[in-house]
Amino acid sequence: MRKSLLFILAIAMASVLASCSRGKVKYRIGVSQCSADIWRDKQNAELRMSAYFHDNVELKFAAAYDSDDRQIQQIDSLVSSGIDLLIVAPNQVSTISPAIDRAYDKGIPVIVFERKTSSQKYTAFISADNYEMGRVIGEYIATRLHGKGRVLEVMGLKGSSPAIDRHNGFVNALKNHPGIELVATLQGDWTEESAVKAIKDYKGDISNIDFVFGQNDRMAMGARKVMASVSTKYCGIDGLPGENGGIRLVRDSILDATFIYPTHGDRLMQMAVDILEGKPYEKEVRLMSALVTKDNANVLLMQNEEIIQQSAYLDQLHSRADNYLQQLDTQRVITLMAIALVVLLILVATILYRYQIQKLRLTEERTKMEREQLDFYTQAAHELRTPLTLIEEPLNQLAETPAIQLADGKTTELFSIVKRNTANLSKLINKILDVQTGVSPHHLTSDQTDEIPIPQVKEEPSKETSAPATSEGETPTLLIVDDNADIRTLLKTILQPHYQLLEASDGQEGLRVAHEQVPDLIVSDVMMPVMNGLEFCQQIKTDFVTSHIPVILLTARALNKHQIEGYESGADAYITKPFQADLLLARISNLLKSRLQLRHLWSHSEQKEEKVEEEPKTEVKENAFILRFKAIVEEKMTDSNLSVEDIGAEMNLSRVQLYRKVKALTGCSPVDLLRKARLSEAFRLLSESDLSVSEIAYRVGFTSPSYFSKCFKEEFGKVPGETRK
Ligand code: FRU
Repeated sequence: MRKSLLFILAIAMASVLASCSRGKVKYRIGVSQCSADIWRDKQNAELRMSAYFHDNVELKFAAAYDSDDRQIQQIDSLVSSGIDLLIVAPNQVSTISPAIDRAYDKGIPVIVFERKTSSQKYTAFISADNYEMGRVIGEYIATRLHGKGRVLEVMGLKGSSPAIDRHNGFVNALKNHPGIELVATLQGDWTEESAVKAIKDYKGDISNIDFVFGQNDRMAMGARKVMASVSTKYCGIDGLPGENGGIRLVRDSILDATFIYPTHGDRLMQMAVDILEGKPYEKEVRLMSALVTKDNANVLLMQNEEIIQQSAYLDQLHSRADNYLQQLDTQRVITLMAIALVVLLILVATILYRYQIQKLRLTEERTKMEREQLDFYTQAAHELRTPLTLIEEPLNQLAETPAIQLADGKTTELFSIVKRNTANLSKLINKILDVQTGVSPHHLTSDQTDEIPIPQVKEEPSKETSAPATSEGETPTLLIVDDNADIRTLLKTILQPHYQLLEASDGQEGLRVAHEQVPDLIVSDVMMPVMNGLEFCQQIKTDFVTSHIPVILLTARALNKHQIEGYESGADAYITKPFQADLLLARISNLLKSRLQLRHLWSHSEQKEEKVEEEPKTEVKENAFILRFKAIVEEKMTDSNLSVEDIGAEMNLSRVQLYRKVKALTGCSPVDLLRKARLSEAFRLLSESDLSVSEIAYRVGFTSPSYFSKCFKEEFGKVPGETRK
């Protein structure tokens, strides 16, 4: 899991980083300039500008400041930095050639521009025609001087090809004009200072010089600085636009003429890209150039101005586009980071979810195990406690018998040993079971399992062991439900002296017997085959016929939890094994005594009202039974033939069921109640109507007025006539 998290993180980071570098660089072009001046500046600017039009081109510039060594070193380091193409203007023809060869031999295409190399190892050459420029200037000077005059030449860097070519062209042109005398050719190095120095150092006669040809505008200006005569004219080469450019100098009559030495960075860039992309290109390119004199200087300046403006505009556009691209980049980075974050969150959520599920599963498994363990010990408890009960209780009973009470010392001693150790065994088993069930979260920590008091049960065993009869002195009927025959026998020995007994060996049989016989109370085991005691109890409490019968659950299931289950099933008491006979008897007696008794169903009207108000809510169901019984009786009582069977049939009950249910709930038999109802109605009629006593007797269902009077006297203590008065 942690590995996959790291993997996703790495991918997210990589894509963020990749997106940071907008557009990968495709071509690296190295530009090695022999010097640094305004001509080179212009060319570099043009190169930079035209790179905008080609995607993913990176330019690396180096300037050697007219030093061979520096240029060689710069070329080598450009090559080792991994350039894809080299553009080079060699300082001198032969000195730089080895470095150029090295680059070329490494497979790097080389464009030599403007200055020649002695090597043939180059891909293309691009330049204006320096010889031609020298020649045109020679012709121009001859024309200006009308074929007669003194001329001085200041040459560019010795060994650089433009200096040699320009000189040759110049000299050759002058050959056609014998009246023009080339007084001297001085050596400069393309800089203004070099011209100043050359002229100052010159020992020959330079008075009355008519024209100075500086091989570039800067050197022409240097010569002008130190030449004394005002009539001397100056011309140069380069013809740059801008502040100190040659074109302005010509326009302002500082120079007489200049020659445009084209920079054309755009052409250079195009050629480089063509070579890199494998497109066709010319190997030798000749750039066009032109002479600038006072006549065309202004027009050229105007044109240049426009070009400069457009370049500036282009530059602005480019930087704006650059800005947008940068914003786009930032947005992409943010988006990617957000995605990475979402992925991360999902991942974390998944991990947490899985963890929770696992935890839940473990808890479930543990709970299941604990439940199984608990079930096991509950079962064990049952198995152990039942035989123990069957030893302990018979022993208690034996202790009361004369055989033991009158026995000799040894027998008594032995008997008490048995009794004492049975009690010890009982305690021990309880303790063991408590310890074992300690694993359960619902366990009991004390060793008083048997005595766990559920509020309803908490009762001191009373000594009241004589069974209370039902109100009429009848012996109550008890139903014993237990699958263990020994337990049934034991229970019988305890209960037989006081009650009539019914037996059943499981819940289902118990239900059948209870439904048919409607006992006054039920004592039932919990763990039984076919139908357990809890379900049995529940069914007893939902059956309309048996719902009123108190149920005592008698079981080895000692835990609180089990007792709660018992009460939830509707049990009225819960007694754990091994039990004490007198506790059981007391419990039975109390339950029978506290049964719901609606004794005044047909009594004086005031008492009737009171009784209804007293009834607790839990007895609503039983009240419903009684009210239905009462309604049927009241509706039919005038019928002298009305029998208890008729009422039972009306209520869907057998004679026995009706009798026992009514008796249990009211303490009276249905026949008694029918008579009470009739007499009560008669009482009402006597006080509220003018009917005669006989008429009333017949009306309430008596067939003989004299029997009516007898019964009336018994019920109310006076004869009907007395009531009327
Ligand atoms: C610029 C420059 C120009 C000259 C050319 C010759 O560096 O000196 O002034 O025309 O180089 O290569």
